[in-house]
Amino acid sequence: MNVLLTGGTGYIGSHTAVVLSQLGHEVVLYDNLSNSSDAVLEKIAQIVGQDFPFVRGDVRDTELLRNTLASHSMDAVIHFAGLKAVGESVAKPVDYYANNVQGTISLLQAMQAQQVKSLVFSSSATVYGQPQYLPLDENHPTSATNPYGRSKLYIEEMLKDVASSDHGWRIACLRYFNPVGAHQSGLIGENPNGLPNNLMPYIAQVAAGQRSELGVFGDDYPTNDGTGVRDYIHVMDLAEGHAAALDFLTKTTGWHAINLGTGKGYSVLEMVGAFERASSRKVPYRMTSRRAGDVAECYANPKRAGELFKWTARRSLDDMCASTWRFQQSVELGGS
Ligand code: NAD
Ligand code: WQD
Repeated sequence: MNVLLTGGTGYIGSHTAVVLSQLGHEVVLYDNLSNSSDAVLEKIAQIVGQDFPFVRGDVRDTELLRNTLASHSMDAVIHFAGLKAVGESVAKPVDYYANNVQGTISLLQAMQAQQVKSLVFSSSATVYGQPQYLPLDENHPTSATNPYGRSKLYIEEMLKDVASSDHGWRIACLRYFNPVGAHQSGLIGENPNGLPNNLMPYIAQVAAGQRSELGVFGDDYPTNDGTGVRDYIHVMDLAEGHAAALDFLTKTTGWHAINLGTGKGYSVLEMVGAFERASSRKVPYRMTSRRAGDVAECYANPKRAGELFKWTARRSLDDMCASTWRFQQSVELGGS
């Protein structure tokens, strides 16, 4: 299949490009490089042994997208492009709605014009808001507590309308839980600019000695050790989930929401312990107050993905930590 990956040079996009290419798909990457670098292109080419066509562009540039879909005879699109920092979305809501919602409208216009009607969308478990029950299945009510989450929710609703307006559309909204880890080569991974927002890259930087200690956001949650529990999923499992979603869309039409998670939760302190074992380094930490908007526990019911995609996450927490550490070390040696 010929597949366009918007946001393809980003963290999840680059790993998905590797998996799809190794499965024999023709992949084209499209990215404005606002949160990634074209140095990734060389790394993924090194992993798979061939170059990837790349278009530098914004998803709000409908004409460029349309030309890209046409010139590469695209069959499907995986839409990763967007902004993703929750705190920043509260400060800059217009940027978030412009990149995420307007960007998706522009993509849909280009797809409609070219009659490309298969779409996999990067949604998030954030659309479940405050969990009313656990594990979270796809029928759990949706809500949003910040502009980032709201942008994902609006897009999901928009895509539902598109699918009901024309039964030729095939749309999968993949609700990711907490993606972590890196490709086993250590060549690509998550390398955030500035202070990491997320736990795993923060732990990795503390283990590497780049930061002195981890602040643990709250130790008084009703969990085993009082710290927050999340469903961490290896980015390579997630990437394989996208390949399974594409396959699923060849056999079905309509709009579908599917969780991509493991179904298992780990606390912050369990993550620290696992990373210490994988890296043989100490990760000093200090308990601090709760972070506004955090929930005690969040983990998936991954049953639907198993049934529809014949996909299940298979990599362990040790794999997640070991691959993150390998990538962190390659970054220190001057990698991207
Ligand atoms: P990322 O920032 O590494 O990748 C996103 C890519 O999109 C970047 O390369 C960026 O340059 C590009 N981009 C942003 N706005 C663009 C625009 N207007 N036009 C063209 N390119 C644009 O993030 P990621 O972690 O790979 O996330 C990919 C998607 O998955 C995002 O939509 C994100 O919201 C979603 N998601 C991520 C997580 C997570 O924790 N990483 C969890 C749930 C959902
Ligand atoms: C995990 C746990 C923190 C940092 C966010 C977004 C969500 C999704 C994934 C995109 C929590 C604790 C963290 C630190 C800590 N992204 N923590 N010290 O909050 O589950 O989800 O990323 O869709 O929308 O909200 O992930 O990695 O930030 O936090 O103690 O320095 O680690 O309190 O319990 P989160 P996270």
